[in-house]
Amino acid sequence: MKVEVVLLLLLFAIMASLGASIHNPIGINYGLLGDNLPSTSQSIYLVQSLLKVPRVKLYEPRPDILQALSNTNIQVTIMVPNQAIPNISLSQNVSDSWVKINLLPFYPKTRIQTLLVGNEVLSDPSIKTTWSMLVPAMRNLKYSLRALDVGSIKVGTTLAMDTLESSFPPSNGTFRSDIAVPVIKPLLQFLNKTKSFYFVDVYPYFAWAANYKSINLNYTLFMNGSAGYKDPFSGLVYTNLLDQQLDAVASAMAKLGYPNIRITIAETGWPNAGDLDQIGANVYNAAHYNRNFVRKLRSNMGTPMRPNQTIFAYIFSLYNENLKGGPGTERHWGLLYPNGSRVYEVDLTGRTPNSKYAPLPEPKNNEQYKGKIWCVVVPGANVTALGPALSYACSQANDTCNAIQRGKKCFMPNTLVSHASYAFNSYWQMFRGTGGTCFFNGLAVQTAINPSYGSCKFPTLSPS
Ligand SMILES: *[C@@H]1O[C@H](CO)[C@@H](O)[C@H](O)[C@H]1NC(C)=O
Ligand SMILES: *[C@@H]1O[C@H](CO)[C@@H](O)[C@H](O)[C@H]1NC(C)=O
Ligand SMILES: *[C@@H]1O[C@H](CO)[C@@H](O)[C@H](O)[C@H]1NC(C)=O
Ligand SMILES: *[C@@H]1O[C@H](CO)[C@@H](O)[C@H](O)[C@H]1NC(C)=O
Ligand SMILES: *[C@@H]1O[C@H](CO)[C@@H](O)[C@H](O)[C@H]1NC(C)=O
Ligand SMILES: *[C@@H]1O[C@H](CO)[C@@H](O)[C@H](O)[C@H]1NC(C)=O
Ligand SMILES: *[C@@H]1O[C@H](CO)[C@@H](O)[C@H](O)[C@H]1NC(C)=O
Ligand SMILES: *[C@@H]1O[C@H](CO)[C@@H](O)[C@H](O)[C@H]1NC(C)=O
Ligand SMILES: *[C@@H]1O[C@H](CO)[C@@H](O)[C@H](O)[C@H]1NC(C)=O
Ligand SMILES: *[C@@H]1O[C@H](CO)[C@@H](O)[C@H](O)[C@H]1NC(C)=O
Repeated sequence: MKVEVVLLLLLFAIMASLGASIHNPIGINYGLLGDNLPSTSQSIYLVQSLLKVPRVKLYEPRPDILQALSNTNIQVTIMVPNQAIPNISLSQNVSDSWVKINLLPFYPKTRIQTLLVGNEVLSDPSIKTTWSMLVPAMRNLKYSLRALDVGSIKVGTTLAMDTLESSFPPSNGTFRSDIAVPVIKPLLQFLNKTKSFYFVDVYPYFAWAANYKSINLNYTLFMNGSAGYKDPFSGLVYTNLLDQQLDAVASAMAKLGYPNIRITIAETGWPNAGDLDQIGANVYNAAHYNRNFVRKLRSNMGTPMRPNQTIFAYIFSLYNENLKGGPGTERHWGLLYPNGSRVYEVDLTGRTPNSKYAPLPEPKNNEQYKGKIWCVVVPGANVTALGPALSYACSQANDTCNAIQRGKKCFMPNTLVSHASYAFNSYWQMFRGTGGTCFFNGLAVQTAINPSYGSCKFPTLSPS
């Protein structure tokens, strides 16, 4: 009798500890695009013991990481790389091999839960031929999993918000006409039949940054003091931008005949820093976004269209990743610095109220920077890498590097650093309007200090 009671208590204790983690819908994206990131085992320690999240998402099936995750209780989502999709879609054998090589050696010791086939495939026009292969590849992989006796692993794909051609008001959510019938409809049919999820990368940050004049920042950060928005067609009242975006996806799915497929947030987050000309990327906003987001999800309140539904989510990202290209925000999504310390406090169990956090530095860039900006060589840049970068910058357009030719106004001082600064700036001023960035693999940085000297003038655009 006594032994039974003890065993029963033990069982309850185990169930409670399992339940505590499983009921936290929050996970983290473990991105690897940095050359200074902690080791795999250190990273897993940070996920489990510092951040205390019960699930991670990997962008590739890295064997060393899957091995290290074995026996950890962490639930794992892995991605099938975009390049693998065509062959998998064309051959059941290739699909079987993919599962045998990348998944079976680690399962079930590593708690692999979901295979995500491709990363935002439908947002990349350069792989348009892959679009129609997406769902066939998903079908083949699901078939392989069943045949290999691991059919409980879900199959999904991550899609960005640009799969929608309209997302406002939320009830007007509609898939792009180029993909709605040929790709999305079969996708939804597959997700319905296999009881899987629609995985969406959803960033209120980007929606706000592109429309900061008309969208209230507080509304985007789940903060009080902003009036709600009432959808004129559904009558539903929204209190934050994320709910609006999620319900736009739900509306679009309903229009194709699938109103009940559950949504998982495959990526969301807020950048903790960015370039001078990028608005709202700071620790204050990032901390508020992620803290409030986690608390909202933890409360299981769902969205206005889908009240009281648990939404699972993976925050982007574990680390600031220094090798990501693009504007400065891309390298600053992390909850942690590469040295493993926190960028800001955030309790991912959602139990800490805002009032219990220490004060944050006041945001300095919540309004668009209005001054002039130049692009120059970053102090301490690797001089060996400057030469090729300089050539690249000068080769992208005629006339950009005229001023640094012998005898011209910016030739002196005749140094690599000086010439590269001129070329980077020249390149960036010409292409910033069309997506050109001041980065050059970490060799360049924006500055508000005019680098012109003597009769050498560095061009700059009027502020936008
Ligand atoms: C796809 O299959 C072809 C033909 O077997 C092979 O040459 C190619 O390398 C494969 N592609 C990938 C990404 O595995
Ligand atoms: C199936 O794949 C395996 C391993 O990649 C290969 O050895 C085998 O020849 C393939 N079979 C067929 C019928 O393509
Ligand atoms: C609804 O979306 C369509 C495009 O799908 C757009 O043309 C229309 O303006 C939107 N309606 C409203 C009220 O915004
Ligand atoms: C946002 O919220 C803060 C704090 O609640 C408040 O001081 C501020 O006025 C609000 N800003 C806007 C634009 O509503
Ligand atoms: C917003 O206001 C409600 C009630 O007015 C309150 O319960 C909640 O804690 C507030 N949230 C924040 C983030 O201040
Ligand atoms: C799948 O489709 C069936 C029939 O259309 C519907 O009853 C069910 O609610 C759907 N399930 C999901 C998860 O979408
Ligand atoms: C959601 O939960 C609240 C509070 O428990 C309850 O009042 C409400 O009826 C629920 N709504 C739906 C649609 O289930
Ligand atoms: C970690 O890196 C950040 C950013 O470079 C720095 O501010 C912080 O002091 C570092 N922490 C430790 C413990 O080294
Ligand atoms: C500097 O750049 C060169 C050329 O890109 C590279 O081979 C070298 O490893 C770099 N050195 C450092 C310290 O990063
Ligand atoms: C530069 O000018 C030449 C001749 O006018 C032209 O052929 C070439 O495409 C131009 N190059 C670039 C990068 O614009």
